[in-house]
Order: sequence, then structure tokens, then C-alpha cells
Amino acid sequence: MKQEMAGVFDRGAPAYDRVGVEFFGPIGRELVRRAGLRPGQRVLDVGCGRGAVLFPAAEAVGPTGSAVGIDLAPTMVELTRADATEAGLTQVRVEVADAETPPLPPSSVDAVLAGLVVFLLPAPLDALRAYRRLLRPGGRLGLTTFAAQDPLFNDALRAMAQHLPENRRRPPTADQEKFFATPELTAALLEAAGFEEIVVDEATFQSRFRDIDHWMTWAWSHGARALLEQIPADRLPAALADATRVLTRSGEDIALTTTVRFTFGVAADS
Ligand SMILES: C[S@@+](CC[C@H](N)C(=O)[O-])C[C@H]1O[C@@H](n2cnc3c(N)ncnc32)[C@H](O)[C@@H]1O
Repeated sequence: MKQEMAGVFDRGAPAYDRVGVEFFGPIGRELVRRAGLRPGQRVLDVGCGRGAVLFPAAEAVGPTGSAVGIDLAPTMVELTRADATEAGLTQVRVEVADAETPPLPPSSVDAVLAGLVVFLLPAPLDALRAYRRLLRPGGRLGLTTFAAQDPLFNDALRAMAQHLPENRRRPPTADQEKFFATPELTAALLEAAGFEEIVVDEATFQSRFRDIDHWMTWAWSHGARALLEQIPADRLPAALADATRVLTRSGEDIALTTTVRFTFGVAADS
């Protein structure tokens, strides 16, 4: 299942966060801002994608610090590594690795950041426990999850899902999302993993699209691709027509408001 999920992101990687939509960038920058990283610190970014969290984190820790990004999708890693080299960010390292078992020694980092990824993991509690082990005591974990998608986004996906074959598979993320469904559940998970001083907060982000083609290009570039890939090719035009009807029903420009949850915890002494 992990490889299936990583495969979806791998195929979307060249366009991921590169289609001119303000979405992952602002959310990642806000996670880093709230993390309060300082020059010289060591940070791990799990599920780094194209660097929406990794690059602002690398800037925050500066050339005397280190920013390690891991992702299970090899194309994400390859492209993000190339971007880091081109930007001259010598403090950045990007590797293919599983976010549930990051290959770092215990107590070796000051911060672990996880942008929009923990709800994709089959065993999120085990993953959080692993982050606590590789944080130094007093180090911070910061993660983002979705508090609320725009109803328009959900309606558009639902309209397209009508075109899945009868024996359609459940979206691969459906089970894991329940661990992060409320602030209370999210905080309880961090506590169970050995974190204290847990703070949960939310912020909203607006994303604008030029037109329906722009929206569809964006949808193919991220997790919604898991649904789109399962719609038979001969059904895609009808699915797009239905999504268009939903997304343009107000007669205004297409825009989405997404509420993101920011959760932080401090690694307790073991
Ligand atoms: C929604 S994207 C978020 C990427 C980035 N953090 C951001 O904020 O734009 C989720 C990322 O997690 C990666 N991913 C999914 N499952 C993973 C796993 N088990 N281990 C490592 N990375 C994983 C995907 O390949 C993808 O790049």
C-alpha cells in the first residue's frame, strides 16, 4: 500500500507544486515559521515532496545547520535534490526513505517536520514514536494535516468518483485519515508517542485557479491523482465535465479555501 501511494506521487512529481497554484508552498512556509528553527540546527523533513517545507527549513537553519529530506517517491527525491544543488543549498540532503522508519540515529536532530504526510502512513503512531526517538530530548515535532477541505473540492472529487468502475477500490488514504480527524485525536496521538507541551492550531489558505484546465492540471499533480488514475480513460471526459459543472457553479473564478491544522509537540525525556 505504501508503494502504491508512493507510485501515485512519483508519477505526479514533475508537476507537484510546480503548476502555479499557491497551495503547498504557503502551507510549508507557515509550518517552518511556526517551528521557530534557528541557525545551526539539524532538521528532518519526512515526506519532503518537492521541498515546500524542506527549502524554507534549510534557509532557517542556514549553512551551519542541516536539513535532511526523505520521501518514498524516487522522482520526488531526484528532482528535489537537483533543485537543492541548483540553489546552492549545501546543508540539504535528500534521500529515498520511508517516513515510518527514517534512517537517522537516535537523538540526532533538533526538529522533525512532516508536511501533509502523516495521514498517508499505515501506522502513524509507530511513525511518531520513531520521530520521538530520533529527536534530542526537548526537540520539536511539527506537522500539518487537513482540518477541512473546501466543500467545492470535496464535491468535485465526489462527482468524478461517480465514474469509477463498479469494483472501485477505496482511496488508499481513507483509513489513516481518522487518526487526525480532530484536534483532540491528533493531540492524543502525539501524547501516546511520547510528546508533551502539545499545541494544535489552525489556519486557512486560499488557492486560485485560472480556469478548469488549470484546476485539473493541479489535481493530477498531487494526491487527487490516486482517484483520477482509477477512472477509465473513456470515462475521463465525462468525469471532467461533471467536475467542471461543480467547480463553476457559482459563476465566479475557481478558488478553494483549505483549513490546515498545525500540531507541535516537544520530545519528552525517555
Ligand atoms: C502531500 S505530499 C506532501 C509533500 C511536502 N511535504 C509538501 O508539503 O508539499 C506527500 C508526500 O509524502 C510522500 N510519501 C507518502 N508516503 C510516504 C512514506 N511512507 N514515506 C515517505 N514519503 C511518503 C509522497 O511521495 C509525497 O511526496
